[in-house]
Amino acid sequence: MADSLLVYSGKSKDVYRITDGAHAGKYRLLFTDKATGYLDNGTVVFDPGRDEVVGEVPGKGAIACRFATHFFRLLKARQIPSHYIDTIGDNEMIVEPAAPLSLAPEIPSLPGAEPLLNLEFTWRNSATGSFWRRYPFVKPCKNLDRVVEVWTKGKSDVLITTEALQATGALTRDELTHCVDLVRQVAEIVSREFASKGLHALDGKFELGRLKGGDGQIVIIDEISPDVLRVCSGYTPAANGDCAVCETCAITRSADGERSIQHRRQVAASDFVSIFL
Ligand SMILES: Nc1ncnc2c1ncn2[C@@H]1O[C@H](COP(=O)(O)OP(=O)(O)O)[C@@H](O)[C@H]1O
Ligand SMILES: [Mg+2]
Repeated sequence: MADSLLVYSGKSKDVYRITDGAHAGKYRLLFTDKATGYLDNGTVVFDPGRDEVVGEVPGKGAIACRFATHFFRLLKARQIPSHYIDTIGDNEMIVEPAAPLSLAPEIPSLPGAEPLLNLEFTWRNSATGSFWRRYPFVKPCKNLDRVVEVWTKGKSDVLITTEALQATGALTRDELTHCVDLVRQVAEIVSREFASKGLHALDGKFELGRLKGGDGQIVIIDEISPDVLRVCSGYTPAANGDCAVCETCAITRSADGERSIQHRRQVAASDFVSIFL
């Protein structure tokens, strides 16, 4: 293996810059076994929707890498640009270096001023997760026609409106249109792929970045893996696309001002990985 330098160590992956060999200048993504989740009465519950690393799941990194490889190759075949170059090991991928969609603070000396570190894009086929928690007047698994939402990535992610993205200078109008189109296109491919296996992708979360090489095109980066997708084992759509069995499938709770939503038919990440591998 060529020498490489650690650039970033994240919740589930480490990023290295390759310093020599055929891929000098590119990045190596190492998929680790670290997993996010929460503690329920002292018991670790792994949950890809959470942001806290709570332990390790042996083999998780290799599964995520194989999964991401499958989808990035599919995108390549459909001529949709991404950062993907090649997969070189069970949990290692070579990618084009990209810069996050970030912004420096306009007045860094102001107490409390902080940079915009990155943006994340969620897309939603069906209303669940934080969408339902924010808008609980909506019936669970209402068809959302692949609505795209944008979040500023940080300790906890904050929803940002499309108007605010442009007003703050985070993205130009053309960039925003491009990003939303790209996310919807990739989401459609991913959703179809699951549908072909009898599974329903409820929603997902993608990261985009500006390629450091070439003309700085904004492409899909990071991963397309069980960590960033929510999937159901079935889908019984009514004519309008809403899931017709939501009342028997969705389990909602409300306690101490906090809502939660789960689905009886939701497939655990560890169960749906085998289908594309
Ligand atoms: N092509 C790329 N170029 C540069 N950084 C990338 C690229 N693809 C992914 N990344 C970054 O690598 C990190 C992956 O690690 P991850 O464990 O997912 O981190 P996080 O805890 O920030 O979600 C992310 O911060 C992501 O922005
Ligand atoms: Mg991540």
